[in-house]
Amino acid sequence: AAKITILPTAEEASQFVAERLVTLVQAKPACRLGLATGQTPRRVYAKLVAAVQEGKVSFAEVETINLDEYCGLGQSHLDSFAAYMHRELFSGAGFDPSKINLIDGAAADETAEAARYAALVRSRPADLQLLGIGTNGHIGFNEPGSPATSRVRVVELSQETLDANQPTLLELDRVPKHAITMGIADILDAREIVVLATGTAKAEAIRKSLSGQQDEACPASLLGAHGNVHWVLDEGAAKLL
Ligand code: GLP
Repeated sequence: AAKITILPTAEEASQFVAERLVTLVQAKPACRLGLATGQTPRRVYAKLVAAVQEGKVSFAEVETINLDEYCGLGQSHLDSFAAYMHRELFSGAGFDPSKINLIDGAAADETAEAARYAALVRSRPADLQLLGIGTNGHIGFNEPGSPATSRVRVVELSQETLDANQPTLLELDRVPKHAITMGIADILDAREIVVLATGTAKAEAIRKSLSGQQDEACPASLLGAHGNVHWVLDEGAAKLL
């Protein structure tokens, strides 16, 4: 059965997840962390930066992989997930640039870049994979219909995802229609998975994910196949459970 923790606020849920990450890195300083972007983990990352500044933990030996990236955006583009990671976490938390593994969204050959990243991801399982969830139940950019066996690949984004991410753009006018994402099988390879979801907009996706039925129509429900998934929710996201 999935482990579920429901906390009153997004702040407390984020604190809980940050503490889990800090505890893991204290116990295993050279771990591999799988990281996520989106609005949801920003508070977690701010807390990790604070923990480093307070001397509680060091990320200097941690190796990272990231779930996904928009096609066409290199790390100098403000809307790339690479830029997000540097801005929200890497630059403030003392990560070693040589241990950061990001997808190059600006690669001329996207299929080749996906293949490069696929091999890198499979070379070592993540000790912990952090996930958010889309309102349509997507994880990474594995949209509804993504098979449980999927690996790193180029995908087309759904209209719901394009609309959901539109307000978060800093520089672009429109969300890119394609992305490179780790697959469901890559995510399931992690030793531990932590899903953070906050706010009532995620309540329906959380309900479907935890219904007990594993269905490609709700990609996050496929996490039910993993033995060590911890769902950390605020009351809004847990509203329909
Ligand atoms: C994005 C990302 C996902 C993220 C999800 C929810 O498009 N590809 O990794 O979990 O959508 O994002 P947010 O946290 O902003 O709601």
